[in-house]
Amino acid sequence: MPALFILASFISLAAASPAFKNFVVQESRQSAPGAFAHLGPAAGDSMINLRIALPSQNVSGLDVDLLDVSDPKSANYGNHLSKDEVGEHLPRSDCPCRFYCPGMAYPKGVVGEICGAGNWISVAVNVSDANEMLAAEYQTFRHIASGKTYQRTLSYSLPIEVVNVVDTIHPTVVFDPPATGRPGFSAPRPRPRVTSPASCAITITPSCLQSLYNIPTTMASFGRIAVTGFINQWAQKADLTTFLQLFRPDMSSSTSFTLQTLDTVSNPQSVADASVKAGDGGVSGSQAHSCTTFLPPFPAGCPYITSVGSVTGIPPEVGPRFSSGVFSNYWGRPQYQGTLVEPFLNAQGSKNAGLFNVSGRGFPDVAAQGQNIEIATVEGTSASAPIFASIIALINSQRVAAGKTTFGFLNPLLYANPGMFNDVTSGSNPGYGTAGFSARAGWDAVTGLGTPVFLKFAAALV
Ligand SMILES: *[C@@H]1O[C@H](CO)[C@@H](O)[C@H](O)[C@H]1NC(C)=O
Ligand SMILES: *[C@@H]1O[C@H](CO)[C@@H](O)[C@H](O)[C@H]1NC(C)=O
Ligand SMILES: *[C@@H]1O[C@H](CO)[C@@H](O)[C@H](O)[C@H]1NC(C)=O
Repeated sequence: MPALFILASFISLAAASPAFKNFVVQESRQSAPGAFAHLGPAAGDSMINLRIALPSQNVSGLDVDLLDVSDPKSANYGNHLSKDEVGEHLPRSDCPCRFYCPGMAYPKGVVGEICGAGNWISVAVNVSDANEMLAAEYQTFRHIASGKTYQRTLSYSLPIEVVNVVDTIHPTVVFDPPATGRPGFSAPRPRPRVTSPASCAITITPSCLQSLYNIPTTMASFGRIAVTGFINQWAQKADLTTFLQLFRPDMSSSTSFTLQTLDTVSNPQSVADASVKAGDGGVSGSQAHSCTTFLPPFPAGCPYITSVGSVTGIPPEVGPRFSSGVFSNYWGRPQYQGTLVEPFLNAQGSKNAGLFNVSGRGFPDVAAQGQNIEIATVEGTSASAPIFASIIALINSQRVAAGKTTFGFLNPLLYANPGMFNDVTSGSNPGYGTAGFSARAGWDAVTGLGTPVFLKFAAALV
C-alpha cells in the first residue's frame, strides 16, 4: 500500500474509531531544557500546526547522484541535478494531493500546505486531537529569556501501522530556542584613512580582505549571492547604499538587491545584517545551557552545506575562541572528507575523549575573517560566511566568463584541493571547562581547511 495512503488512513481512522491500539514511542525526553519553564497542560482547544515529514524513498541514491555531479573527478561534474531529479528520490509530491488537498477537512485536523519536495505536509489540529493521535501530552512552556511560549510534549508515539511511513513530526519534543542570532556588533572605531597591515590588525575593512586573500578589485561580470533571513535579521537596502558609498565608490550606490520570498514572509527594512555561519560559541555551540558533551550546532553540522568558521588577526591568522567546531552526532563522516580528518583525530590522542563523536562529520569546512569586521555602520562577527561566499561568487563569475558552469555543492571540490587554502595552525575553541580543539597543520575542527587564497582558487577552479 502506498505510504501516503496509509498515513491518510491514519489521520482519518484515528478519529473515526479507536482502531489503533499499539502505539510505539518515536521520540521522548525526560524534561524540557533548563531555558524553559513549564506552565501546565496546553488547552485542549488551542491549535497546533503539525508538520509531518514523510520518509525519503532513496536517500543513499540521492547521495550517490549528488556526489556524481559534485566530485571534481567525476565525468558528470557540474551537471547539476534538477528539482525533478532530486524529487525522484523523495515521496512524489503529486501523490499526496489525492488525499491531502489544501483546505480539505479531515476528522482530525485540516491539511494545509504540502511543501519541501512534497515530503512535508502540515495538518492543523487542536491539542486534544493531537494528544490522541500521537499518544502525547502537550504542555505549555515559556522560554524564560524571551517570554515566548511553546506547546510541546515530552514524548510522542505513532500507531505501529504507520511507524514506517512517518519520518518525524514537529512540534513535538524539540525545544528550538527563538532565533536571537544577533551577531556581536559594536560601534566602529575611527576608520583609518589608509588601509595598512597595521590598521587591518585593528579593523578589517573590505580592502584588508582584498589584500589578505588576494581578491581582485575588478568588478565581477556576472555574479549572484543569496543572503538569507533565518534569524529575524534582514538585508537592508539603506545599509547596502551606505556600504557602497563608503567602500565601493567605483560602483553605483543605487545598486540594489532583489527579494525572493518563501511562504509568505517579508523583508522588513529596519534592523541590520544577515548571514549563515558555523556558529559562535566554541565547542559549546550557541547553547547557553550546560551539557556533558560538545554540542554540534545545526545547520553547521549538516554535511550538505559548507560550514564557515572564523579566524582573526593579520597573517598568520588565528582561530578565535568563539569559532564553533565539533563533530556531528547525527551525520557520519562524509566520503568527501576522505583522509583529511584522520590526522587531526590521531593528533588529538585522548584529549577530549568521550566529549565528541569520532565517527561524525567534522566541521567547519573552511574559515575566513570573523572579528572586528567593518560593516558600514557597525563592527561585527559572523561575517566569515558572506566573505567566503563572495569569493565563491567571484570565482563563479570567472567560470561563466570561461564558458563553464557555476558551482553546485562545493564540499567535494574544496576537500579535493586543500592546497588552495592558507592553513591556519593556531588558536582553539574552548568551552564546557575544556580547552576545546586546537588548530593544527591540515584540517582541524577550529578552522577547517583554512582561509581562501583567491589566486589559488582561481588557478584550481576556473
Ligand atoms: C478538537 O477538534 C475536534 C474536531 O477534530 C472537535 O470535535 C473537538 O471538540 C475539539 N476539542 C476541543 C477541546 O476543542
Ligand atoms: C536509488 O537511486 C539510485 C541513484 O539514482 C538509483 O540508481 C537506484 O535505482 C534507486 N533505487 C531505487 C530503489 O529507486
Ligand atoms: C555518533 O555518530 C554516528 C553517526 O556517525 C551516530 O550514528 C551515532 O549515534 C553517534 N553517537 C552518539 C553517541 O551520538
